[in-house]
Amino acid sequence: MHILVTGSKGQLGSEIAELATRYTHHNFILTDIDELDISNEEALNTFFDNTAIDVLINCAAYTAVDRCETEKELARKINVLAVKLLAKVCTKHSVAMIQISSDYVYDGNNHIPYKEIDFTNPQSYYGETKLEGEEMMEEFCSHGIIIRTSWLYSSFGNNFVKTILKYAQEREEMNIVYDQIGTPTYAADLATTILDGLDKLPFMKGIHTFNFSNEGVCSWYDFAQEIIRLKNIKCSIKPIETFEYPLPAKRPAYSVLNKAKIKNELEIDIPYWKDSLERCLLKL
Ligand SMILES: NC(=O)c1ccc[n+]([C@@H]2O[C@H](COP(=O)([O-])OP(=O)(O)OC[C@H]3O[C@@H](n4cnc5c(N)ncnc54)[C@H](OP(=O)(O)O)[C@@H]3O)[C@@H](O)[C@H]2O)c1
Repeated sequence: MHILVTGSKGQLGSEIAELATRYTHHNFILTDIDELDISNEEALNTFFDNTAIDVLINCAAYTAVDRCETEKELARKINVLAVKLLAKVCTKHSVAMIQISSDYVYDGNNHIPYKEIDFTNPQSYYGETKLEGEEMMEEFCSHGIIIRTSWLYSSFGNNFVKTILKYAQEREEMNIVYDQIGTPTYAADLATTILDGLDKLPFMKGIHTFNFSNEGVCSWYDFAQEIIRLKNIKCSIKPIETFEYPLPAKRPAYSVLNKAKIKNELEIDIPYWKDSLERCLLKL
């Protein structure tokens, strides 16, 4: 298959780029904003007219959750309008599209893990744009997959794991919220699932939505504790409540994802979050 990856220098895109060397039966076309700006309709049309593509994996997004609250136009341009352009050009060229979405499409009021069919009600502008991006897929893409994921981290890019490692080395103590519950996702595991699933994902017609994260449940406080424990760093971490660390964008209090659908469809086991974190930390 000819696989176009957009946003290939981000966390997920970099993991796919690294894995690509092992999937030699596929041809990967790796692009980021300098090679292919997904919000530029003319550039997209020219690119698709001149390139053989079977599958698009869109890893490009505006992911700065708090900045989305003020940079609304830019967030919408990349997370909504560009997804519409991609969906349309994929449909025109019969390309299957994989779009990555977020646990922030849910409001966080559940007490049991979210299923794909559960009510969506984003609480932040980022979440709103990710949901609208999904709606663009539904409306303009003939065949594709939406994967909702949560708390993404990687040895590439900037993320919670790297921030905790940095602060833990600089400070004797830190405060981390314990009243937001979810599951971290090692981007390498998501990348593997996507690439291994290419032959099995239901690309025939329509849009199919799946949840994906690592297995297990934790708070950001637990996540931070595990990072410093595995790295053997001495730092005291104090659990605090969300109101003690106010941020511009509201986060869901609970965003654990039910992954039964993707596990059944692809016949996969998903790694436990602590095991995946350990693998990532070996690279840092
Ligand atoms: N990070 C998370 O915790 C999280 C959680 C749930 C879901 N997700 C979703 O998972 C996906 C991957 O996230 P990620 O963390 O890997 O993202 P990321 O690290 O922020 O990477 C996004 C990449 O897209 C590029 N990009 C931005 N605008 C572009 C444009 N107009 N055209 C082409 N490329 C563009 C970025 O370049 P610049 O860096 O130069 O802007 C960056 O290289 C996204 O859809 C995100 O919404 C992420």
